[in-house]
Amino acid sequence: MRTNKKEAGAADFTFEGKRVSFPVYEGSRGERALDISALRRETGLVTYDPGLVNTGICSSDITFVDGEKGLVLHRGCNIEDLAEQCMFLEVAYLLIMGKLPTLDEQSKFSSLMNEHSLIHEDMQHFFRNYPEHAHPMAVLSAMVVSLSSFYPEMDTESVTERIDNTVARLLSKVRTLAAFSYKKFIGEPFVYPSYKLRYCENFLNMMFSSPVHDYIIDPVVEKALNLFLILHADHEQNCSTTVVRTVGSSGANLYASISAGICALWGPLHGGANQAVIEMLDTIHESGDSVAKVIQAAKSKDSKIRLMGFGHRIYKAYDPRARIAKKACKSLLEHLRLSDPLLDIAVELEEAALRDPYFQEKNLYPNVDFYTGIAYRAMGIPSNMFTVIFAIGRLPGWIAQWLENSRDAEQKLMRPRQIYTGIAQQVFVNTKDR
Ligand code: SDX
Repeated sequence: MRTNKKEAGAADFTFEGKRVSFPVYEGSRGERALDISALRRETGLVTYDPGLVNTGICSSDITFVDGEKGLVLHRGCNIEDLAEQCMFLEVAYLLIMGKLPTLDEQSKFSSLMNEHSLIHEDMQHFFRNYPEHAHPMAVLSAMVVSLSSFYPEMDTESVTERIDNTVARLLSKVRTLAAFSYKKFIGEPFVYPSYKLRYCENFLNMMFSSPVHDYIIDPVVEKALNLFLILHADHEQNCSTTVVRTVGSSGANLYASISAGICALWGPLHGGANQAVIEMLDTIHESGDSVAKVIQAAKSKDSKIRLMGFGHRIYKAYDPRARIAKKACKSLLEHLRLSDPLLDIAVELEEAALRDPYFQEKNLYPNVDFYTGIAYRAMGIPSNMFTVIFAIGRLPGWIAQWLENSRDAEQKLMRPRQIYTGIAQQVFVNTKDR
């Protein structure tokens, strides 16, 4: 059972002469929430909070993010420890099952992953009918929602009873679907998953091996991919996770909810930023524009330009994931003996922005998307696959949050209110009289 919220007093509110008291809760890391669930009943008012900037939609035991201190905890474990010492599947297990797996649990989880790594042969026809330029995120979202048609037992099978089966099936098949969409995009034959390979080894092999040349998996690249997937594994109530919870709240199945989350992640303000960062750095490199000019444009109210990979709704300090990603990116390029001018531009951009009063006053720092694309590029992954990598990483977080939502007795169908500002009333006019 999840720990309950702790009552921490109340807040009084007076409106039109009526005084109402609302309870205040305190979470296990001291953040506090005002419970307004009785607001409309007691006052007739609804809240107005575009972007849900000030609104907590749930209590959760999964991830804690302290934006002021730049802290991320998954089930209480520091992201730095997990990134340094775990494989991605261990963190996936921690998020979903609530504890790090024993060696025996790990091997059982891995064999389930192998058991479920193939997709139905008929699903391959879907890939063939996509145009060459189809974005892999569009393909991934469509394929994930289609999984429940090919595996109807996933729909009926109570997700919680056989959670290990459901989770392994999704985590494993999404990796295969992602690799297949890449092969489709480059017009090469699909490479099947191998039971001999670990999670990230399998992905790299399905992406890069081919009938005409061997692909030797570099253990340093495999470890780097594990680390980057861990950095994306969960991040409390971000946009796409809120979508996954919202879709699940209607009773839609897990696969439909995840498919919707993939679409939300695709946007350049969210997970699509990692692709937008590389495109921004590439434009700077190709145009020869100075970093100062780019910073100026990003600050200007008139330009739509933003410094992609910078800024965050929660962080008013350096995103700890960005710090880890920057270090991992640099060591990967050193190992591969690659020097990427885009990394030099990114470092120069970061230094210039962090010195600039505009970015300082608005507490704008690099976020998780700022350096990851440079590492993916070094691995040979094309930029339109960057957000797919983000989705693979985020999948365990989405599943854990969806499950928590489905088990939370306080949760109900998500259905926010609004303030209506349209025409108050008008007389209906028949077509002939318009
Ligand atoms: C992710 O929520 C999560 O946890 C997300 C994520 C996860 O793991 O799930 O961490 C992953 O999505 C990271 C964010 C990736 N997106 C980008 O890198 C896109 C660039 N960043 C921005 O668009 C922006 O910072 C957002 C969208 C991320 C957050 O924006 P908010 O919270 O809505 O803040 P805002 O747009 O109101 O900005 C506040 C001020 C504004 O200036 P004023 O109107 O107050 O004068 O800061 C400015 C903004 O113009 N600003 C930027 C900026 N980000 C904010 N100015 C220039 N460049 C930027 N990047």
